[in-house]
Amino acid sequence: MFLSCAVVQVIAVSLVAESIAQAPIRPPDVMFVPTPQEVVEAMLKMAKVTAYDVVYDLGSGDGRIPITAAKEYGARGVGIDLDPRRIKEANDNAKAAGVSDKVTFLNQDLFTTDISDATVVTLYLLASLNLKLLPKLMRELKPGTRVVSHAFGIGDWKPERTIRVNGQSVYYWTIPERQR
Ligand SMILES: C[S@@+](CC[C@H](N)C(=O)[O-])C[C@H]1O[C@@H](n2cnc3c(N)ncnc32)[C@H](O)[C@@H]1O
Repeated sequence: MFLSCAVVQVIAVSLVAESIAQAPIRPPDVMFVPTPQEVVEAMLKMAKVTAYDVVYDLGSGDGRIPITAAKEYGARGVGIDLDPRRIKEANDNAKAAGVSDKVTFLNQDLFTTDISDATVVTLYLLASLNLKLLPKLMRELKPGTRVVSHAFGIGDWKPERTIRVNGQSVYYWTIPERQR
């Protein structure tokens, strides 16, 4: 009896420890909803991704955008997500797709991670988060960096192109030259 109580206690403690280890540092600003694969393909095509690109997905979920960029175009991919379960899932998916050497997933806050290395940035967040992100995009990204967003615009920044894919909007911009 004593032994079974001790075993139950050990299991309970390890379950709690595991759930704490898997908990995000803070609640994500938007929940995980994956971009449908045909929309992912259209986003990467719209950005004209090549093997020379570094594709950052801000809020990368299961990693499908950086993984597809690496697998289909030979690009380097970086995904950032607050939720450690998404990071594990993305790393497992990268391994299954054979592109672990080309993609990196960071368990960080997209608002505080340095994204200046990107040549392409992809987003599937919310209109309010895109608006909050705009100063960071303008500050950190090099002129000419392509930005593609699924479903949401970025404040009053006018997209250069908009397409519809299976009923979903995709928007495209390039970072302008800095104002002197
Ligand atoms: C709508 S999902 C998009 C997933 C993926 N980009 C796609 O298009 O399939 C948004 C993701 O952003 C993550 N997220 C939310 N707020 C975040 C933040 N501040 N920093 C990093 N990731 C965040 C969520 O955990 C979720 O996985």
